[in-house]
Amino acid sequence: MPGFELFGDLEKKEVNDVLDNGVLMRYGFDGMRNGHWKAKDMEKALEITFKVNHAQLVSSGTAAISVALAAAGVGAGDEVILPTFTFVASFEAVMMLGAVPILVDIDDTLTLCPKAVVNAITPKTKAVMVVHMCGSMGHLDALQDICSKHSLLLIEDACQAIGATYKSKPLGSIGDLGCFSFDFVKTITCGEGGAVITNNKDYYINSDHYSDHGHDHIGNDRGAESHPFLGYNFRISELHAAVGLAQIKRLPEILKIQQTNYTILRDALSQIPEVTFRTVPEGGEENYSFLNFFLPDLETSLKVSNAFKTHGVDACFQYYNNNWHYIRKWNHLKELKSLFPISSEVKTGLEYLKTKQFPQSDHYIGRNISCLIKLSWSEAEVKARASKMVEIIKASL
Ligand SMILES: Cc1ncc(COP(=O)(O)O)c(C=O)c1O
Repeated sequence: MPGFELFGDLEKKEVNDVLDNGVLMRYGFDGMRNGHWKAKDMEKALEITFKVNHAQLVSSGTAAISVALAAAGVGAGDEVILPTFTFVASFEAVMMLGAVPILVDIDDTLTLCPKAVVNAITPKTKAVMVVHMCGSMGHLDALQDICSKHSLLLIEDACQAIGATYKSKPLGSIGDLGCFSFDFVKTITCGEGGAVITNNKDYYINSDHYSDHGHDHIGNDRGAESHPFLGYNFRISELHAAVGLAQIKRLPEILKIQQTNYTILRDALSQIPEVTFRTVPEGGEENYSFLNFFLPDLETSLKVSNAFKTHGVDACFQYYNNNWHYIRKWNHLKELKSLFPISSEVKTGLEYLKTKQFPQSDHYIGRNISCLIKLSWSEAEVKARASKMVEIIKASL
């Protein structure tokens, strides 16, 4: 997944443009910047790459989700449906707006189960957030149908699936709004950064203003700009955008390497009858950043995961006991540990988390292993890794 593995002259050139003129901020200082607008250029590149009308860069993927939800009017007391397998950021981003995250089961796509989504809809539901985990996607046609039938927003968290497509459309461009992260370990990186993409002009304008204190960005005197509504600071810096601008040019190269390495590993593991792979919805193409496979049961999966670690097969994740990505261990969120008082509406809305069990999610996450695909492996290294993985799995069955 990490774009930082291919980091070199292209990134240095873009960053040096910014350092040479000294304008580290994305807005204003027109006379000093020698024609360099790295954030604006990256936004244009995002619009072309992801085939959307609008892209708004922000400071992180977490910020992108909050900005997207705010731009579409999600706020106090609204319920947002999201999967049990995600990153804590999705939960946090909803909480930040005073809305209530409603976690529901995943299916064998490792993201939202459409049936679970339908069962969770209440009069308070405002949005469904599909989180395209580990390089692949949810059942987007089914989720779109549900959202249009119930007049709900569909938000795509595509932070982990940059470059994947569904029926030839880039992930992130299919829902009402899509979110990306360009943190240090994503497919392409800015160091820290994120983006909201959309075809809806109003949502774009809202994202643009909201992520910069509500500035309307009209004219070239920042002090004289008006503020149509409340905003905060989720701006990206020119330095971060410069890195991302170089990286997005490399996306096709990165995806190609990932696919080559993924295919070697998958072909090898396919020879083991007990190994099955995550379902990719028909018409979907992964970004190949992870190889996700299922073993027959939790015990075998934990055994294989431990054996991978002791035998040096690194970067393979078993999420059942993971603190970041799966609901089971999110005790700080279940217990609502917060530095400041949380509204009674959200407290009541989250009561369910204290007792709710997710057996269907446990069934999939318990048996799953997600192996990160690195860009820096040589062909010989991937082949050696594949043989080692096969050997370990066979010995653990
Ligand atoms: C699925 C998902 N959503 C959101 C985020 C948040 O992105 P960031 O680290 O840029 O805030 C991440 C980061 O790991 C993620 O994996």
